[in-house]
Amino acid sequence: MTRRIDLRSDTVTRPTPAMYKAMAEAELGDDVLGDDPTVHKLEEAAAAKLGKEAGLFVPSGSMANNIAIKTHTKPGDEALFDWEAHSLCMEVGGPAALAGVLTRQFRSPGGVPDVDEIAAAIRPETLHSPGTRLLVLENTHNRLGGAIIPLDVHRHLFSLAKETGMMVHVDGARLFNAAVATGTPASEFAAQADSVSFCLSKGLGCPVGSLLCGTRDFVERARRVRKLFGGGMRQAGILAACGVVALETMIERLADDHSNAKRLAMGIHGLPGTCVDVEAVATNMVYLTTTGSAKPIEDKLAERGVLCIATSPKRIRLVTHKDVSAADIEEAIEVFRLTINI
Ligand SMILES: Cc1ncc(COP(=O)(O)O)c(C=O)c1O
Repeated sequence: MTRRIDLRSDTVTRPTPAMYKAMAEAELGDDVLGDDPTVHKLEEAAAAKLGKEAGLFVPSGSMANNIAIKTHTKPGDEALFDWEAHSLCMEVGGPAALAGVLTRQFRSPGGVPDVDEIAAAIRPETLHSPGTRLLVLENTHNRLGGAIIPLDVHRHLFSLAKETGMMVHVDGARLFNAAVATGTPASEFAAQADSVSFCLSKGLGCPVGSLLCGTRDFVERARRVRKLFGGGMRQAGILAACGVVALETMIERLADDHSNAKRLAMGIHGLPGTCVDVEAVATNMVYLTTTGSAKPIEDKLAERGVLCIATSPKRIRLVTHKDVSAADIEEAIEVFRLTINI
């Protein structure tokens, strides 16, 4: 098989040898019955990393978000999302279908939420209006180029939320990318939210799984919602074992993905008919804007072994991760130059 450099997503990563070993040796129970020791170990480690009281192991990032939204709200409540939020755009309408919330959008220029717009949107529950009960933030922001929400913006929004009786959920699918890129512990971001989810199955390299963390009371209510959504898993320790390895060994290395993304952006910057904002590359994502159609470029790159995704008619997304080396990035840049110069 021809070698492929797969830049479609950080979800394509394969487990490390240490993860396979941990899976084979994992001590198991039945997590729906509450006695899988490896799941307990992972949930405690995740909560400790985020400085929260408790954690809940769930099958996916989408389920983590939807469990959080349903646990924080009642049907008819209003929840605020960024226009491009994954939970709003890419989770099949989960907030409406599963939690019955009214969704309202705010802008995030450059990936940073517009605080004034959020403040203006908040409304109390009255005889006529739904109450704005929940603010959902995404850090880092997938569809906005892997952008980081700065800690002071989180602080500002969390105090605004507490003044107005609103809960804050952070979709931190890639929160550790934000932590590593800024040198800020993930717990400092998490302190500015009522609940935080993060994914093991993205840059951290696990095959499956996400964590949802918050207070003990929140997590116990979320556990019931997980059951409602069919997310209770039995010998889940097999998967949790990978997560424990990921939290111990896979966080600091995200810095390599970030430098690879920057190098990739610089290498493909200025190719004819395309534009890359090199300065905007903050973590492990690079977005290339094309003047013509993006899809034929995706196809031609794939013929030469470089995989990426045209996420919209004139945009291509490239994501770096642990299974793409610095040498692969140089090779990918060469393939881009050959393909786009023709
Ligand atoms: C920011 C963000 N949140 C949530 C998810 C959903 O994760 P999953 O694919 O595990 O459902 C993704 C997936 O790419 C994401 O990028």
